[in-house]
Amino acid sequence: MAYNRPLLWTIVNAASAATLLLLGACGGGGGSADSTADGAASASAGGTATPVMAAAVPVRNDLANLGQQIFGDTNLSEPRGTACVACHQPGQGFAGNHGSTIGVALGSKAGSLGMRNAPTNSYQGFIPTFSFRTGDDGKAEAIGGHFWDGRADTLALQAQGPFLNPLEMNNPSKQAVVDKIAAAPYAALFRQQFGANIFADTDTAYAQIGVAIEAFERAALQPFSSKYDAMVRGTVKFTPNEARGMALFMDPNRANCSGCHLMDPTTGKPEDSLFSEFTYYATGIPRNTAIPVNADPTFFDLGLCGPARTAPTLPANIVPGTTIDNFCGKFKMPTLRNVAERPNFMHNGFFNNLNEVVRFYSTRNTNPQHWYGPSGVPNDLPAKYRSNIESTEAPFNRAATAGPLLSEPEINDIVAFLHTLSDGFVPGSAPVVTPTPPAPPVPPAPPVRPAPPPRPLNQ
Ligand code: HEC
Ligand code: HEC
Repeated sequence: MAYNRPLLWTIVNAASAATLLLLGACGGGGGSADSTADGAASASAGGTATPVMAAAVPVRNDLANLGQQIFGDTNLSEPRGTACVACHQPGQGFAGNHGSTIGVALGSKAGSLGMRNAPTNSYQGFIPTFSFRTGDDGKAEAIGGHFWDGRADTLALQAQGPFLNPLEMNNPSKQAVVDKIAAAPYAALFRQQFGANIFADTDTAYAQIGVAIEAFERAALQPFSSKYDAMVRGTVKFTPNEARGMALFMDPNRANCSGCHLMDPTTGKPEDSLFSEFTYYATGIPRNTAIPVNADPTFFDLGLCGPARTAPTLPANIVPGTTIDNFCGKFKMPTLRNVAERPNFMHNGFFNNLNEVVRFYSTRNTNPQHWYGPSGVPNDLPAKYRSNIESTEAPFNRAATAGPLLSEPEINDIVAFLHTLSDGFVPGSAPVVTPTPPAPPVPPAPPVRPAPPPRPLNQ
C-alpha cells in the first residue's frame, strides 16, 4: 500500500481546523431544514450568487473524539454490528458499501439493499447548504446539500438519517438510539459535552449525536494530505504520467474534467481544489440492473425529484420558464478526493473500475450502444426527462461521429492523476502506475421479484 491509512483518522489540531472552517463559513442557513429561503436568497443575487454555507458545528477535539466513537460504534444498529464506518471506510475513500458487491449499500439486516452507492463522507464540511442559482449558461441550477439528492442541509442533520433508515442501521426510534448511547462507554463524555441531564430529552440528545459526528467529520476527514496537496504546496513533483493526466483533466478542449470538478493547483492552497462544484447534473449513467428496486422496469431514481426526497420548492425569482421537471434525474457531483480508493462510482454504483468511468466520459456520445445496449438510448431515465441529460459542456458535447475522446494511454494517465487525490500520502512512497484491469461485466439482474417497500422519505 503506497498510502498510510491510519493517518486519516488523526483529529487535526482544533485551531487549524477552525481556520479552514472560517474560509467556508459565511453565515446563512443556520441549520434550518427549510432550504427554500436559502434558495431565494442566492437566486436573487443573479448569475454570480455565492452559495450559502450552513452555520458549522465548531471543531473541538473532545467533541470530535466523541463523534469518532459514535461513528465507529457497531452497537448503534439493529441487529447490532453495522456502524457508520461500515459504509464509509477510511481504506475505501470513506465510502464502501458494507460488503455489498452490486454497487449499492448493504444495511444491518441481512439482504437489505438500498438503491444508492455510499458516497464519500470526506470533505463534506465544504459543501454549502442546498440552493438554486443561475449558472453561467443563464439556466437555473441546483447546488449544495448532503446526500446524492441534497436533502440534508447540514452534516449534523445528515447524520441523523442512517440510524433510523430501515435499509441502513434500522433502529426503531430515536429513543432506541439514545438509549444505546446512554449505555455506551462514551456516555460520560456525551454528558460532559451536552449537559448532565442530556439523556432525559430524547429529541435534543438525538440532535446532539449529529453535532458530535459533524465535529468529527470536520476535524478528521478533510486533512488535505494527498500527493496532489503536497504538489500544490510545492513539496513534491508529479511523475510524467500524473502530470500528463492532470493536464488532460484540466484541458477545456479535451477531457475538461476540471470544468465541473473544480480545482486550482496554482494558488498554493489545497482548499482551492475541492474537485467538485457540488452542482447537480444528469450525466446519463447507465442503469444498474442489479439493484433490487430496478427489477421493476417502471422504477427510476430521479435524484432531485425523488423518491428518496420530496422535490425541492423552486424560489419565486428563479429563471423564468424553469420547472421542477428540469431537475429530474439530476444528482450531486461528488468530490474526487479519495476517489481512487472507492469500490464503486456514481449514484447507482454502476461502475466498479475507475478506468471504466473515464472510458464512459470518453465514449458516451460516440459509442452509446456500448453503454446502453443496442438502442443506444440512455436507459436510466424515463423518456420525458431525457432532455435533462447534459449535452452542452465538454466532454458531453462531443459529436457522435468524432470517435473516442481519449486513447487508452491517456485514460491511464487521468487515472494515475486521480490516484494522487488520495489522502495519507507519504513522501517517497511509490506512485500508483499499474493501470487497473478492465472491469468485469456488471452482474446480471436478479430474478424478478416484488420490489421492496420504498425507501422512507427524508432520511
Ligand atoms: C448501510 C450503509 C450506510 C451506513 C451504515 C451509513 N451510511 Fe452514510 N450513506 C450511505 C448511502 C447509501 C448514502 C447515500 C444516500 C442517498 O444519497 O440517498 C450515504 C450518504 C452519506 C453522507 C452524504 C455524502 C454526500 O455526498 O452528500 C454522509 C455525510 C454520510 N452518509 C455519513 C454517515 C454517517 C455519519 C453514518 C452513521 C450515522 C452513516 N453515514 C451510515 C450508506 C451508509
Ligand atoms: C458536466 C460536469 C462534469 C464533467 C465535465 C465531469 N464530471 Fe465527473 N461527475 C459529474 C457528476 C454530476 C457526477 C455524479 C453523477 C452521478 O452519480 O449521477 C460525476 C461523477 C464522477 C466520478 C464518480 C465519483 C464517485 O464518487 O462516485 C468520477 C470518478 C468522475 N466524475 C470523474 C470525472 C472525470 C475523469 C472527468 C473528465 C473526463 C469528469 N468527471 C468530468 C459531473 C461532471
